[in-house]
Parts: sequence; structure tokens; C-alpha cells
Amino acid sequence: MEKWKLIQRHASYLWRAQTKYQVHSPFVFEFMEEVLDDKRHYYAFDELEVLRTTLKKNKSPLKKQDFGAGSLITNTKNTTIAEIAKYNQSHPRVGQMLFRLINWQKPKHLVELGTAFGVTTLYQALASLNGKMTTIEGCEATAKVAQASFDVVNAKNIDLIVGQFDEVLADVLEKLPRLDYVFIDGNHRKEPTLKYFEMCLPYINNDSIFVFDDVRWSSGMNEAWQTIKAHSKVKLTLEVFDVGIVFFRAEQKEKEHFELLPSKIKPLNSLLLK
Ligand SMILES: C[S@@+](CC[C@H](N)C(=O)[O-])C[C@H]1O[C@@H](n2cnc3c(N)ncnc32)[C@H](O)[C@@H]1O
Repeated sequence: MEKWKLIQRHASYLWRAQTKYQVHSPFVFEFMEEVLDDKRHYYAFDELEVLRTTLKKNKSPLKKQDFGAGSLITNTKNTTIAEIAKYNQSHPRVGQMLFRLINWQKPKHLVELGTAFGVTTLYQALASLNGKMTTIEGCEATAKVAQASFDVVNAKNIDLIVGQFDEVLADVLEKLPRLDYVFIDGNHRKEPTLKYFEMCLPYINNDSIFVFDDVRWSSGMNEAWQTIKAHSKVKLTLEVFDVGIVFFRAEQKEKEHFELLPSKIKPLNSLLLK
């Protein structure tokens, strides 16, 4: 039943999603040009995909801790770096989209919840060399691999905090001079997602950007996403693939929501709707 609902949510997104040829908002059109339809290839992409491939081939054992509600470790399983690298990281297209988003908007103080092995962290941090990324990972063994990834790439602008979100997020936020950007990609359930959203809200400025991964993958995440979209402080939301992007810009007078896809994925839109 849940699987069927998931298919329905994805299918209706694909059906409804607009390309830049249908979008009238100048800000969203710029997002499409600079982020979704941007064809520039960056050297960092090659370096990070080599890193991902190396991780996927690494058969070294890893003790993975999983987390439940509160600060409970619900399970520790023996697995390998390769297994986690295959199933526990965002797709390259998400990393590259976040790179472009950051390269466009230039947030300086960035936070990520859920580091995994740090490939997506690096996509974001390398797009913001004048900024600082604070990333939080609860599983100690996973965090060790992430730190090794940051060292290999010689990334100097990442602060890796090992700890559970419930225990460390408040302190991380309190110490930041500003919260320009947050990527929430850890505990993919409704209540924790809404809790982290609410915790981050007091720190926003006009240009802050919040990004949520997997906004459609379960009914709970979908409900959390609908609640976030409806929040009075949220002015503009974009849904791209599985990712939800939130803006708080006062320039956005009326609340708007867009479901978007790169033009190359819906080529007919450009022929019929230009
Ligand atoms: C989906 S992965 C992150 C993927 C990564 N952001 C990327 O895009 O490749 C989620 C990570 O969050 C960590 N995590 C999940 N729940 C957590 C919690 N409550 N506290 C700290 N870390 C948590 C997991 O150990 C896992 O490594």
C-alpha cells in the first residue's frame, strides 16, 4: 500500500513538474537557469565521483549505528564501507544540484544533518570555499570515513561534529553567527524532520535556504513536507526530484510552490510551451 502511494506521488510529480518554459517568477526562472539547466561542468564533480567510486569498492568492515527517536541507538550492524556507500548516500545529481544552488546563492554558514561518508557534504562545501560547512553525523565509524574523505580532498572548510542531532544541533545553531543554509538528510521521519525544521527557524535570515531530502519517500515525510510548505514563515518552496527547497525571502509577496524538472528531462515542454 505504502509502495503504491510512493509510486503515485512520484508519478504525479513527474506529470505536474514544470520546466523553465512554464515558469513566470523571475527568481524561479533564475533558479532554473543557474541550477537545474546549468550545463557547466566543474572539476570538483570528477574528483568527488572518483571518491564515491573508491568508497563503493572498499570492502573494509564497518560497524553502522542506527538511531531511533531521541538519542537511542536502535541497532548496530556489521556491514562494509562499500554497502553503505551504495545505499546511504544521495545520488550525484543531488550533490551537483546542491553545488550549483550554493554556487548561485553563496550562503556562508552552512549546516548539514546526516554526513554519511561526506561526498554530498563535499559537493556543498566545495561550492562555498569562502563559507563554512558544519556537518553532523551520529555513527562514529561512518564519521571516521567521512573525515578521511575530507582529508583526501583537502577540504578545509568543513567542521564534522560526531553526535546525535537531538544532542548536538541546538549547540551547533547557537554557536553559528548566521544560518544561511541547512540540508536536512538524516532521520527521514515526520516528527524529527519537523522538529529540526522548528529548531532551525529562529536562526533564519531573509536569504536562508533549507533543503530537505526524500520529501516524498514515505507518507510521514510527505506530511512533514506539506506542513513545512504551509508554515507562515515559508515564502517559496521548490520540489525537484526528491528534494524540497525552502526560501524565506520577503521579496516573495505571495506564497508559491513549484514542482520543477530540468528542461532536458521534459523536452516536449520546450517545444510546445516556449
Ligand atoms: C541518508 S544518510 C546521509 C546522506 C548524505 N547526506 C548524502 O547526501 O550523501 C543519513 C545519515 O544520517 C545519520 N543519522 C541518522 N539519524 C541520525 C541522528 N538521529 N543523529 C545523528 N546522525 C543520524 C546516519 O548515520 C546516516 O549516516
